[in-house]
Amino acid sequence: MTNPASVPAGAVAQVGPLMPSLEEILQGEFRAARLPDDIASLDEEAAARVRVAVTSGRFGVPADLMAALPSLELVANFGVGYDTTDVAQAAARGILVTNTPDVLTDCVADTALALLLDTFRGFGAAERFLRRGDWLAGNFPLTRRFSGSDVGILGLGRIGRAIARRAEGFGARVRYFSRRPVPGVLWDRTESVEELARVSDALVVAIPGGPATDGIVDRAVLDALGPDGFLVNIARGSVVDEQALIDALAEGRIAGAGLDVFAHEPNVPEGLVRDNVTLLPHVGSGTIETRNDMRDLVIANVRAHLAGDALPTPVPETAP
Ligand code: 8YV
Repeated sequence: MTNPASVPAGAVAQVGPLMPSLEEILQGEFRAARLPDDIASLDEEAAARVRVAVTSGRFGVPADLMAALPSLELVANFGVGYDTTDVAQAAARGILVTNTPDVLTDCVADTALALLLDTFRGFGAAERFLRRGDWLAGNFPLTRRFSGSDVGILGLGRIGRAIARRAEGFGARVRYFSRRPVPGVLWDRTESVEELARVSDALVVAIPGGPATDGIVDRAVLDALGPDGFLVNIARGSVVDEQALIDALAEGRIAGAGLDVFAHEPNVPEGLVRDNVTLLPHVGSGTIETRNDMRDLVIANVRAHLAGDALPTPVPETAP
């Protein structure tokens, strides 16, 4: 634990809301205060004291906030995805960024499998059917078999691989697409996202958000997935062209979708609220165990930085 007296008040700041036990540690150990959400109301003197900003994927530290914090040295992100923090700007300014990889891989992969099972089998819809009393009037319609299906994983990082392994447990044939072949894996790589969609019963989005992947699951990819295909997204809403998805669902050009992430969270467009779409409020990593591990990793990074030690989990773009 850092000696609180050794860290001047205001050197560690919180950006956006964080899990309560993380906020407590930040306040107790580092006397951290939360920065105002509106940059215009940022006090110049307080801003100049901030060396470490602790944030989450929802808020991040975008370029304008980074520019307003002249002494910033570290952005510690609660979450593996850091697309809301301007890493190019951080790298240019010599600011380090850390995230929370590995500790959430299992829970996010579990969520992907839950969404796959639910989209194929319609368990959520079947439960609503029972609760409405509709069973009394007849049986729930037949659904689709997940076991043994063709599952395409877009983005074969840690989470993508964990999803692939789980899907194999269901006898699925796994293929993937990522810009470069992933060494050491036996799954087939397709030449494009579209090809992956064409040969898959389900396309699972597990690729980081950000400018490089913005809207890559577009109308053409959804059409390649086709009227019998399901889309699952546990990564970032920005990777999918949300309007194209709404249109494809409305026109029956894909069979259904399972979504844990959206383009403008917590807003979910009406066009996605359909019986063949499973909707989750971004809960992929949301278990007590995993969130506690994420919190501990954030704190470990902050402590290491303030002590001048090597950071446990710097992101590759800003790693020293
Ligand atoms: C978190 C996530 O819910 O790790 C990520 O990238 O999206 C989730 O684990 C999020 O970061 C908390 O805001």
